[in-house]
Amino acid sequence: EKGGYDYFMLKEIAEQPKAVADTLLGRIDPSGSLTLDEVRISPSELREIDKVVIVACGTAFHAGMIAKYAIEHWTRIPCEVELASEFRYRDPILDGRSLVIAISQSGETMDTLMALRHAREQGSKVLAICNTNGSTIPRESDAVLYTHAGPEVAVASTKAFLTQLVACYLVALYLGQVRGTKWGDEIQAVIKDLSRISEEVERVLETMEPVRALARTLADKDTVLFLGRHVGYPVALEGALKLKELAYMHAEGFAAGELKHGPIALIEEDVPVVVVVPSPRGRSVLHDKIVSNIQEIRARGARTIVIAEEGDEAVVPYADHLIRIPATPTLLQPLVATVPLQVFACELATARGNEVDQPRNLAKSVTVE
Ligand code: F6R
Repeated sequence: EKGGYDYFMLKEIAEQPKAVADTLLGRIDPSGSLTLDEVRISPSELREIDKVVIVACGTAFHAGMIAKYAIEHWTRIPCEVELASEFRYRDPILDGRSLVIAISQSGETMDTLMALRHAREQGSKVLAICNTNGSTIPRESDAVLYTHAGPEVAVASTKAFLTQLVACYLVALYLGQVRGTKWGDEIQAVIKDLSRISEEVERVLETMEPVRALARTLADKDTVLFLGRHVGYPVALEGALKLKELAYMHAEGFAAGELKHGPIALIEEDVPVVVVVPSPRGRSVLHDKIVSNIQEIRARGARTIVIAEEGDEAVVPYADHLIRIPATPTLLQPLVATVPLQVFACELATARGNEVDQPRNLAKSVTVE
């Protein structure tokens, strides 16, 4: 059942190109416009929306953080994203013009379910992004966009995350389409890139051996830090979460721009720091700022593990280890940048003798608050 892999997690990491392609399947027509049949909230209702609020937990929350960048950039609708467990108890401001998006692989996470119930009580429309057909969260939502990742068995979420990202991009693009915002060449180009992204994920998977080898050399470390900015920030958080839950190591993700506001004090001799570098072609300001962050932490002794786009030569002098990912539009980069972090955490867990598919103290779905 593990299809020749030692762990379900390895199998599920390998299934990501197909999972991503399946989630896109039938949703983009040849002319490049989107049809999301399951989103049973009418275009006229979607045109009335004045705020999007995303609620989720754990890895799904990281997908939501990335979705915020895409939704605000492509639709110009204000978007908030909040941990479901926090949202629910702080009396959030919602009404009939708010669209609440609940993201959940299992569809059974109690905090997310409670958040969506609260949203519906305030008269908001709820759209679920979910991987499990017929589970509670989609049943209680106004509409659902299923991720087609197939069953995810390993406790640590991998393919569900990538497909949640794809679903979030589809929703963002669809909102842009029905509202007519920014629906121009940029969006058409993104849709084209999205429809090819599964091949890029495949290419990343083919180059993971050095990442595994690197992970094995770090098995006796206590701490690994992760830095990113813009959509690379949630990717850094996701890399840190994977490492905590699988390798039981102290791992923290930071927004690179925050370094000087505290975290840089953690940098000491030989501490591994993984840095997710934005594309130099898109927002080159962000790219340049991160390159100077890498310089700064390296000057203080950090062992820099740099994830950067192919052709980005600026990072080379400061990277102790360089992990290449294919060039993608800025907003889509998490689909390729997360994969090495999954492989890294899985290999470190194995090297430390941990149970990969069933990390201690964790359950696949958290059905209590
Ligand atoms: C991390 C992980 C958890 C889940 C979280 C939400 O690898 O699996 O953080 O992402 O418990 O679960 P769902 O998506 O089922 O609501």
